[in-house]
Amino acid sequence: MTANYNAIGGNSLSPYGSGDPYYNESSGFISPPQPPKKRTSNWVKIGVPVLILVIIGAVVGGVLGSRASSSKSSTNSHGAGNAGGEAAASSAASVKLEVGRFATATNTFTSPTFNPSVNADLAWPKDPFQPSNPSPTNVRTDRPRIIAPQYKWKTLPNLIKSDPYLKGWNTTIFGNASDYYGLQPVKYFMDGDSGILDNAREVKMRIKAFAYTFLMTNDTKWVDRAWVELQNAAGNGTTPFGPDDDKWNSAHFLDTAEFTAAFAIAYDWLYAQWSDTQKSQIRSTMIKYGLQPGVVQSTTSAGWWRNNITGNWNCVCNSGLTLGSLAILGDDTSGIAEQLLGLTIPNAKANCALATIDDGTWAETANYWYFGTTGHAEMSSALLTATGSHYGLLDINPNFYKTGIYHMYVAGATSLFNYGDHGPNKFSTTANCMILYGDQYNHPEFTLFQREQYDAAEPWSMFWYNPTVSGAFWDGAALDHFFDNGLDQWASMRSSWTDNAALYVAMKAGKNQGLQTHNDLDVGDFVLDALGTRWAGELGSGDYRSPNYFSNDTQDSDRWKYYRKMTEGQNTILVNQANQNVLAAPTVNHDSSGTTQGSSTVFNVPQDSTAFWTADITSAYFGVSSVKRGVRLLNGRKQVLIQDEIASQDAIQWRMHTNATVSIADSGTSATLSLDGQTLQLTMLSPPDSAKFTTSDAVRFPTDPTPPVPDQPNPGVTVLIISLPAGTYTLQVLFNPQWSGMPASDFVTPPTVSLDNWSLTSHN
Ligand SMILES: *[C@@H]1O[C@H](CO)[C@@H](O)[C@H](O)[C@H]1NC(C)=O
Ligand SMILES: *[C@@H]1O[C@H](CO)[C@@H](O)[C@H](O)[C@H]1NC(C)=O
Ligand SMILES: *[C@@H]1O[C@H](CO)[C@@H](O)[C@H](O)[C@H]1NC(C)=O
Ligand SMILES: *[C@@H]1O[C@H](CO)[C@@H](O)[C@H](O)[C@H]1NC(C)=O
Ligand SMILES: *[C@@H]1O[C@H](CO)[C@@H](O)[C@H](O)[C@H]1NC(C)=O
Ligand SMILES: *[C@@H]1O[C@H](CO)[C@@H](O)[C@H](O)[C@H]1NC(C)=O
Ligand SMILES: *[C@@H]1O[C@H](CO)[C@@H](O)[C@H](O)[C@H]1NC(C)=O
Ligand SMILES: *[C@@H]1O[C@H](CO)[C@@H](O)[C@H](O)[C@H]1NC(C)=O
Repeated sequence: MTANYNAIGGNSLSPYGSGDPYYNESSGFISPPQPPKKRTSNWVKIGVPVLILVIIGAVVGGVLGSRASSSKSSTNSHGAGNAGGEAAASSAASVKLEVGRFATATNTFTSPTFNPSVNADLAWPKDPFQPSNPSPTNVRTDRPRIIAPQYKWKTLPNLIKSDPYLKGWNTTIFGNASDYYGLQPVKYFMDGDSGILDNAREVKMRIKAFAYTFLMTNDTKWVDRAWVELQNAAGNGTTPFGPDDDKWNSAHFLDTAEFTAAFAIAYDWLYAQWSDTQKSQIRSTMIKYGLQPGVVQSTTSAGWWRNNITGNWNCVCNSGLTLGSLAILGDDTSGIAEQLLGLTIPNAKANCALATIDDGTWAETANYWYFGTTGHAEMSSALLTATGSHYGLLDINPNFYKTGIYHMYVAGATSLFNYGDHGPNKFSTTANCMILYGDQYNHPEFTLFQREQYDAAEPWSMFWYNPTVSGAFWDGAALDHFFDNGLDQWASMRSSWTDNAALYVAMKAGKNQGLQTHNDLDVGDFVLDALGTRWAGELGSGDYRSPNYFSNDTQDSDRWKYYRKMTEGQNTILVNQANQNVLAAPTVNHDSSGTTQGSSTVFNVPQDSTAFWTADITSAYFGVSSVKRGVRLLNGRKQVLIQDEIASQDAIQWRMHTNATVSIADSGTSATLSLDGQTLQLTMLSPPDSAKFTTSDAVRFPTDPTPPVPDQPNPGVTVLIISLPAGTYTLQVLFNPQWSGMPASDFVTPPTVSLDNWSLTSHN
């Protein structure tokens, strides 16, 4: 018992842990919606008073006792027996609230689970609308229909009172709504090829917050404010909003779809507040600028996004049209809603639902995952609530659920493994599909993971969240995962799920085509996090308005002339200063010690815990006999080795982009990187003759083909380079993060082992 509680206290760090465990102020991706005070962790607050924990143990143990007794004994420290009963359940509710957020592990010490039976009074009631024969045009009779039906609004205030997450999110949404209240309506801004997508998503974000806040208060000021926003986006406000015949920019249909969704939510959620005139105005605007263009898109070649587009476009466009149709079904008698539902649902099933490939990877990029899954989740949820079925959207692809696994593993210790394009601003787009998927696919760890994130607080979470969830997402979670589909082969390896300072390395191979033209020529690319900082990182999107940026993914595409998309702009091997072959088809191999984290947020990595991933990336290059690249963790996941075996007829470069300040030793074979007050040492092992680290700015070579317009600058980024002439080499670069308190003598120097001979024990 003592060991666990000490661990939660956050003061017994692993020997070389560098700072606060888990949530600290400087956190990047894994950060709470409302960060605790500087340098204090919630774990300290709740972990130190052992007495409080004993009380919680007694109460929660009473509620969850029968479960807890079957869980691992090392994590079951409550053992208060099954006192059971209603009284215990209601005190569990108050304890749950008392303990607060980020506290699940202390609360139950069980692996993730949904446990509705013992937590009945903390759960959603069953939806009274259970049609025996669901049909897309047979909608529930009460409003709202979309995502948040009446019976949930009735229950929500109670759940908020007993669930700390719902409580915190509710407060944040109210705060956000108040902030938006004081702003001018969203101003029309045509952003070239990106259209008015930001405008659409910002309007949608505001409408969700206004409508939510109204329904929680009955204060009509929120309805009035929502109306001002709708009027503005209909072109009936005080400032102009786009051309009269096409205000929602149907040529870039994502914009149209997101506006349609915003109007659908306003219409449906605030239905009882609108006068008949207002209702008819909202409908007429939505039909003219959203649904009618939607029919054109869905029945002519204009709708290119319907044809084999397994990516965010298909999800977002079909979802917006579906929400709009569901909102007005029955009120509008033209038949357009019925017509569209007959087109959007089968099309999304045949395309959007396939954007998760069989290993769970989202076929576009880690950032486009947000847009695509938000569309998929909104559409599935709206169909479920409005009509009682998702018509297969959630399960036609038996591997769709794995996209939750993808998202967890593509999230590094500081931020995403954000290869390829990053997409436009997110506004109404979040990762909260994880909360819906957690519930729908019975993967509570998705819910537990997402509820800790900064973007969890928004109206959808309030209705998707299953408050009977308990446990900790990291409890039993493997530190490594390998994604093997040939399209996106990649590896994710880390030293902890709950330490912002953890080591995280991710590397990809995969194809250079078939990725909705959001990828880079980046076979072999990697990111590295350690000590709370990203040492090897991505440059992200180029300017989407650059000519031919999205033209195609053939070898001679202008897209591959922009530095951020070229191979030289990636953290990989460059041959002859030339782009990779777009026809690359690498093969990979990997293994892992299979280490899983336990229930504690402080994880002491066993010394023999390791993982490695190797790829034959020869096919990605011209003018080579062979190129192989491997990455592995060493020394209990405190060091990383990247090894390249290259036989090339042309000159090569090893390249890595970093925000760090780089200082190269006189020998030229080691470099010291400094960033955010931390240090990373890089050393070449058995360096080939003449191999030396050099640096350059992140800019194109003067000899590169000229792009249609100049590149975006990459200020602050240094490229760390090893240049070598044609030849046959084994290049080994050892990454030693300077963990606080770890003496130099504790770093290991691994033997040289050829990639083909790597195994879990080959470097012991
Ligand atoms: C939601 O948050 C608002 C603002 O903090 C608060 O006034 C309201 O009481 C909360 N709702 C519930 C049901 O607690
Ligand atoms: C919503 O409020 C939270 C808490 O104040 C804040 O961190 C967040 O940035 C706000 N979100 C938006 C979109 O304004
Ligand atoms: C708002 O009004 C509805 C309908 O009259 C009512 O059921 C609900 O309890 C009210 N909510 C609040 C927060 O007053
Ligand atoms: C905006 O004005 C047009 C033209 O009067 C009208 O047809 C439409 O219904 C109005 N829409 C809204 C949302 O006010
Ligand atoms: C979509 O893909 C299928 C299978 O690859 C193919 O048969 C079909 O022709 C494609 N449709 C379009 C419109 O490209
Ligand atoms: C540099 O830092 C920015 C901001 O955190 C980040 O977005 C970018 O990916 C980093 N670049 C590199 C090369 O690490
Ligand atoms: C691909 O795009 C480039 C311009 O970026 C163009 O020159 C080329 O013809 C296109 N190829 C195909 C097959 O469309
Ligand atoms: C791999 O290991 C075996 C057995 O130790 C050895 O015979 C072989 O030469 C090694 N292969 C390479 C490529 O080093």
